[in-house]
Amino acid sequence: MKFTDSATVVDLENLSAFLSEMNSLPEYHIGYCGTNQEEIYNTIIKDPELLKSFIIVKKGEKIISALGYDFYDETIELWGPFIREEYNTEMTTTLWAKMLTKLPKEVKYILGYCNEKNFKCITWLVDKKFDLSGKHTVLQIDPQSHKDSAGFHLLKDEYFKDFVVLHNNLFPNTYYTGMQILNKLDDNNAVLVETIDSSLVGYAFVTQDSLKNGNVEFIGVNPRYQKKGIGYKLMNGALDWFKLKKSREVILSVNANNTQAINLYKKVGFTIKDEMCSYRFKLEK
Ligand SMILES: CC(C)(COP(=O)(O)OP(=O)(O)OC[C@H]1O[C@@H](n2cnc3c(N)ncnc32)[C@H](O)[C@@H]1OP(=O)(O)O)[C@@H](O)C(=O)NCCC(=O)NCCS
Repeated sequence: MKFTDSATVVDLENLSAFLSEMNSLPEYHIGYCGTNQEEIYNTIIKDPELLKSFIIVKKGEKIISALGYDFYDETIELWGPFIREEYNTEMTTTLWAKMLTKLPKEVKYILGYCNEKNFKCITWLVDKKFDLSGKHTVLQIDPQSHKDSAGFHLLKDEYFKDFVVLHNNLFPNTYYTGMQILNKLDDNNAVLVETIDSSLVGYAFVTQDSLKNGNVEFIGVNPRYQKKGIGYKLMNGALDWFKLKKSREVILSVNANNTQAINLYKKVGFTIKDEMCSYRFKLEK
């Protein structure tokens, strides 16, 4: 068994093939990493820190394990560990120890995000004393074959303030504030809205990446107007937007116990793709 402690461009072709092969299977699936080899290759080549973060384990010429991380602010998101062969405590403990030695000094939190069927990754995270921080259901739909149409309304300047208030009230502790969403708006990042008597009652924040993968990042309806069909209308309108954008597939991720939202998504035609678990580790300094 041979460890490469810091991957280089020379390793990238094999590494991206390995990650793509592994990540396409639920029992090896890590949520932060894609499944398309070219996409993985391009993501890593554009980010030298991500490339350098990878520790690769080989048996002969064959990669049997890999672990990398994506660093932002005080947090790293784990790309792995991908463990092809039987769980080997010695090898996986070495991976952890090697990773800890190379972390940027600013890191305070380590996040893991894997499929609930990825028992090897879960075993590793639990063994390293990560806490389970949430369970998420990932749903998908092909917008091009979606029949119902509702039409959509893009957020206009006059509702910017109301949008920020509504979003921040519905999602007080999330990854984008209302203001951050406004700063992202462009051709591929849109807020679609529903209004009643000139009041903003609901919105959906929809995005499309360069590979035409669509995502519904947030959908929310003012609690006073919930259960009146507004969410359903917004979601059908969102699918019209994705159709117009020629999106290939639309994905969304929701807290696994948010039955209201999951029922809405299923009613619109989404199907469950994956059940994911998120884990968090706080580094003691
Ligand atoms: C999820 C949410 C957007 C639904 O909006 P809504 O306008 O209330 O939904 P609708 O009235 O269009 O209902 C559509 C379907 O959703 C489901 N649904 C809505 N409210 C529900 C509830 N309280 N319990 C169970 N299912 C519910 C039902 O399947 C419903 O269809 P039905 O009326 O035929 O039973 C809304 O509850 C909300 O804003 N929640 C807080 C924010 C949130 O959690 N967003 C999702 C994560 S990003």
